Amino acid sequence: MTKQKQLYEGKAKKVYQTEDPELLIVSYKDDATAFNGLKKGSIAGKGVINNQMSNLLMQMLEKNGIPTHFVEELSERETLVKRVSIVPLEVIVRNISAGSFAKRYGVEEGIVFAAPTIEFSYKNDELGDPLINSYHAIALRLASPEEIETIKKYSFGINELLKAFWKECGVTLVDFKLEFGRLSSGSIVLADEISPDTCRLWDSETGEKLDKDRFRRDLGGVEDAYQEIMRRLREHIK
Ligand code: TMP
Repeated sequence: MTKQKQLYEGKAKKVYQTEDPELLIVSYKDDATAFNGLKKGSIAGKGVINNQMSNLLMQMLEKNGIPTHFVEELSERETLVKRVSIVPLEVIVRNISAGSFAKRYGVEEGIVFAAPTIEFSYKNDELGDPLINSYHAIALRLASPEEIETIKKYSFGINELLKAFWKECGVTLVDFKLEFGRLSSGSIVLADEISPDTCRLWDSETGEKLDKDRFRRDLGGVEDAYQEIMRRLREHIK
């Protein structure tokens, strides 16, 4: 399968058509943005790490019954995926308070929740991805009630699988963002990526941040954190 016309360029990835109308090639960039594109930069080697990490995690999820868009890793930065139409919701699962949750509710970061939470943002850059509830999402026809139920079930399932996986790597999964898509058959699969760009990952012992918050918050050591989290993942699956 080879790259044909570029379909789309996002903040961190490019998407290409292939000879097969049901398959696309995703190419991961080193570009990094935060705050809806307001902060711009680059993280050397990020594209390679995010591509490889996302593929390894999606394969682990597939083995555990979660359908994903993953088909085949083609190169360091490129992956063959099933074509989906993206459900325009960012699905955020949280285990521990951090980021916008801590800010919105005026609590410190690091409070361990009794049970995981889920929230949705409407994927719309012009509006700044506003928080939305499932009733609003259904009213706006972003997803059907059945799709919302499926997305919730998969998201909490993914949380348990990822939490257990990262624990084995000495990493605490604080929160993460998922995106889902519809195949041409209409069935829902996990799409986009699972990477340090889209998860908060803290060292279980020291609490050190091993994710994109190092970039968002100018903490330094961004590249090293991405390398370190990938090293731990590799070490674990050896
Ligand atoms: P938040 O606390 O800023 O709402 O972020 C929650 C999680 O979602 C965190 O793991 C980072 C991830 N995230 C994205 O993947 N993309 C985004 O645009 C934002 C704002 C957060």
